[in-house]
This record gives sequence, C-alpha cells and structure tokens, in this order.
Amino acid sequence: MTENTTDNHFRILLVEDDPTNRMIMEKLIAKIPNCQAISFADPVALIAEIETCRFDVAIIDYQLPNLNGVDLIRLIRKYPAHADKPIVMVTADRDTDRRLEAITAGAVDFLNKPVEVVEFKARVMNLTRLADAQRRLSAQADMLKHEVEQATAEVRARGEEIVHRLILASEYKDFGTAMHTMRMAHFCDLIAGELGVGEELRTDIKLAAPMHDIGKVGIPDRIVLKRGPLTDEERKEINRHTDIGASILHGSNCRLLQVAAEIAATHHERWDGTGYPKGLRGEQIPLVGRIAAVADVFDALTTDRPYKSAWTNDQAFDFLADKAGSEFDPTCVAAFLKRRGEVEEIQGRFSDQKLTETIKSFA
Ligand SMILES: [Fe+2]
Ligand SMILES: [Fe+2]
Repeated sequence: MTENTTDNHFRILLVEDDPTNRMIMEKLIAKIPNCQAISFADPVALIAEIETCRFDVAIIDYQLPNLNGVDLIRLIRKYPAHADKPIVMVTADRDTDRRLEAITAGAVDFLNKPVEVVEFKARVMNLTRLADAQRRLSAQADMLKHEVEQATAEVRARGEEIVHRLILASEYKDFGTAMHTMRMAHFCDLIAGELGVGEELRTDIKLAAPMHDIGKVGIPDRIVLKRGPLTDEERKEINRHTDIGASILHGSNCRLLQVAAEIAATHHERWDGTGYPKGLRGEQIPLVGRIAAVADVFDALTTDRPYKSAWTNDQAFDFLADKAGSEFDPTCVAAFLKRRGEVEEIQGRFSDQKLTETIKSFA
C-alpha cells in the first residue's frame, strides 16, 4: 500500500550544500501549509539512507560536493519507490544543455538561484498537488489490484469447489476409491515438486489428479465394480474411461479443468508407446500424464484390489525402477524414488484402513 495516502502532509526533500541557501529554503518550506523539509547538505549522506528515506517532492541543487545534482537524480530514480516522485533541480545558470541533461535524468522542473520567494512557494505548492494526485492514483490502483485479486481468488475457489464436487460424484458408487485418488494426487504433487514444475501448474495437478478416472462413470457398474479379473472384452470396455473422462473435462477455459482433461486422457499412455488410448510415446505424452501414470500405478500396486493383494513398497519401487524408460518416463520415476520417505508418509496419512475406521465411526 502506498504510504501517506490518507493524510495531506508532504515531506520535501532538500539537498543543498550551501548553508545559507538551505536555511532560506527550509524556512520557505516551513511556511507552506502541510509541508516539512528533510534536509541534506551532502548527497552521500542521502544515498546512505535512500532506500528508507520517505519524501513526496525533492529539491536538488546542481552543484553539490562528491556528486552533481544530475547524477544524484539518476541514482534516486533507480529506486522504484522514488521513480515517479516530482524532482526539481536548482541551478544558477540557464545553460540549456545542463537543463536538458537534468530533464533526461528525471527532473520535472527548475528553480533559479538565487531563489525567489513567490516563485519558490508557487513551484513547491504545484508539485505537492502533483504528488497528492499521484498518491490518490496509486491508492486507487492498489484498491483495484486488491479487488481484482479478490475476484480472481473467488473464481478460483468456485472452480475448485466444482472440481471437488465432481470428484465426490465420481467416487459415489465406489467409495473405496476415495483414498486412492487422495494418495495418487499427493504422489503427483511430490513428483511435480521434485521436477521443479511451477507453483501454479503444480497446484492444478494436485487438484486435477483425483479426476483421472472420472470417465469410469460412463462404464457399466458390472465391470467397474466387478470383484475379480476382467475378461478381454471387459478390459476393452473399461479402457474407454480415458476417452470418456477427457470428453467430460475437455473444452473448458478453466486451466484446472484443462489439466484434468489431459491427465484423464493420458494417464494410461506408456513412455514406449504401448499404452492406451492413443499409443503416444515419450514426450508426445503430456508431462502431467507421465507424472500421473507413475503415481497411479504405484498406488494400484501397493493396495489390495479385487483381483490381487497389495505388493510391498519395496516390490512396487523396484517395479517402477525396472520399467523406467519402457513403461514410464524415467525422470518421473527418478523423482518419485527420491521422495520415498514422503511417499510412505502419504500412504500412512491416507490409508484405506483409516477410511474404514472413519466409515465405522459414522455407522
Ligand atoms: Fe485410469
Ligand atoms: Fe487410478
């Protein structure tokens, strides 16, 4: 937030080495309503505290010790907080080249030496009005920015809520899959984090991953809920969940749903091109799909399914390592293996046993 946005008090920075001139200008400033002078005789002393120095208007003499006024203006302008502050240069001569140099450096006005009382007061008052207008604009810009941020956050929250409810709907028939999707989403997040995926996409992946199997709502219950191995025909039918999921999620303007659509469409593709539905290979498969494949298979292997009992973590990690470069993207596997400790922590936090206990506690 911009400072001093609510009061009408102005701090006038004065850099003048000549004690008499400085004193005269300080006195003149003191007579202007709501103005207070902050004086420096040496530009070096100002530079030492330039980052924390708060001022609304600056009046800088050209002839200063150690550094001339134009160089000082250039330096002040480098600080974002001072980039737009009105700066006046005080100069004894009317040398056009020097004035041009000062304007190029960022001066907005000039005062002639010796300072003339009426002119000085009029200039300073004009500049405080300019500073005041800048403050108001800046305050308005801050307010608008805040409102836009709030509106964006609300849209995002609404999107997330819809996604969450969609996930609940997809898990309604088979509540046992709830923990699988939670673990799988967290595994995806680990891999994405290890690969250095940007914060925004990483959050989208974590929120979108639980929808990877949403297409199963379009597959008959007798196949999805079947307790036992699937026939070839049933396997073919269930594999359609990738295309169905993609068609449910596809075509949205919302980035989160776009990521969800990509994951749903490609989480069964394989690095070597032997996956489905399209047989994509290598980097033809979107990164989010490659990440989801590792996370999904690991969780499927380490949990009991109607047709098989759970593998140990050692067996599942070995399987991933063995299939890195054939079934899976080797960089995704390497990232996952690196985070083994956290993988096991996630398994503990979202265990199927915990889900059973929670269901029992509500019974
Ligand atoms: Fe799937
Ligand atoms: Fe899955």
